[in-house]
Amino acid sequence: MVSGIACGQMASQKKIGAAVMTTERVSRKQKVIYLDHHATTPLDPRVLEAMLPYLTEEFGNASSATHVYGWRAKEAVEQARQQVARLIGARGKEIVFTSGATESINLALQGIVKAYKDRPARIVTTTIEHRATLDCCDHLGSQGCEVVLVGVDHEGFVRLDELEEALKTPTLLVSIIHGNNEIGTLQDLRAVGELCRKAGALLHVDAAQSLGKTPLDVRELGIDLLSMSAHKLYGPKGVGALYVRSGSPGVRLQPLLHGGGQERGLRPGTLNVPGIVGFGKACSLAAELIEQEAARLSALRDLLWELLETQIPNIRLNGPRRCRLPNNLNVSFANVEGESLIMALRDVAVSSGSACSSAKREPSHVLRAIGLSKALAHASLRFGLGRWTTDEEIRYAARRVAEEVQRLRAMGFGDEGNDAPTDTA
Ligand SMILES: Cc1ncc(COP(=O)(O)O)c(C=O)c1O
Repeated sequence: MVSGIACGQMASQKKIGAAVMTTERVSRKQKVIYLDHHATTPLDPRVLEAMLPYLTEEFGNASSATHVYGWRAKEAVEQARQQVARLIGARGKEIVFTSGATESINLALQGIVKAYKDRPARIVTTTIEHRATLDCCDHLGSQGCEVVLVGVDHEGFVRLDELEEALKTPTLLVSIIHGNNEIGTLQDLRAVGELCRKAGALLHVDAAQSLGKTPLDVRELGIDLLSMSAHKLYGPKGVGALYVRSGSPGVRLQPLLHGGGQERGLRPGTLNVPGIVGFGKACSLAAELIEQEAARLSALRDLLWELLETQIPNIRLNGPRRCRLPNNLNVSFANVEGESLIMALRDVAVSSGSACSSAKREPSHVLRAIGLSKALAHASLRFGLGRWTTDEEIRYAARRVAEEVQRLRAMGFGDEGNDAPTDTA
């Protein structure tokens, strides 16, 4: 099934370089199928259209209170604030615009530790977080904050008994990734929220990958802080937001930067008006499309797995079958070196894991955390489907992966010790 909206986009897709594009490393005419939507997404043409006036004639500074240019920019920012808030069941005043999820996560974690000097500086997080969280926790650890990592099961679900145990010691904040950027596992936020409430700990959620992909209501789930990014949701790069719960009492937060007082002093600096407008539009589109897009992409994702599974022996699905980001598939191919496979697949853009760490030769910490050997973790590919991914592209990609896996296996291009996967679930 291809949704009407998705079909409607196909004509403009080539104009702005959406799912099919060319690179320097392949011939200029060769089509490259984009299946790396966890790294980033193409800009939706409707988002671009909403942004264009604010890149041209509506160039005002949203903080200019003395003329119409500033008023119009401010009005556009406030409309976007409402659009972002609506997607997560929040109020506009609870949204702080930032440069992306990395900044939001840093503001949440460091800003909470700074604001709650009267409470134990103790953060509980998990072994499968994005580097933005893990590196920020390392930094806080070097400043004297206690950081506890809770493990996950073989599908990447946080061990709730371990979390409960960790929360027996007074804890300031729990930080948890909602949709995992590598294996797609969607955590049970309701259960995590209940444990946090019982223990009196604040809850921060990294929703960079899940925002607009699966329904999420901060109030219903008892979330105190939530990090978001526009470029994972067909919006522009370099813009994101942090939800900070208000109420009595609301969440206290200290800024990381000091300056002009924008965003109620929590994130000073001239606002990126076109980016914020684009983020708002991306959120309102996601709210409209969320159900049909999730159904369409999860069906395509399941088709991809079926095709791979029937054509290639000795492969393993990483992450769960259910409670998974609809656009995510992560597969290990025994006896194939993942990097060689990626290099061979010049016409299919996939990755071996997080874009931020794909330059490193270290095996994915997420795959290791769910129990994969180093060799099998190195033999894994992440497929990320998106708004314009088609059935035809999925069938082509599956065929190409099968061809290259077969070729590399025949050449003996596996990592040493990269043996048959034990779990092909
Ligand atoms: C789960 C997760 N958290 C945080 C980030 C960082 O987001 P940004 O690129 O907006 O800084 C990413 C980006 O890959 C992500 O996947």
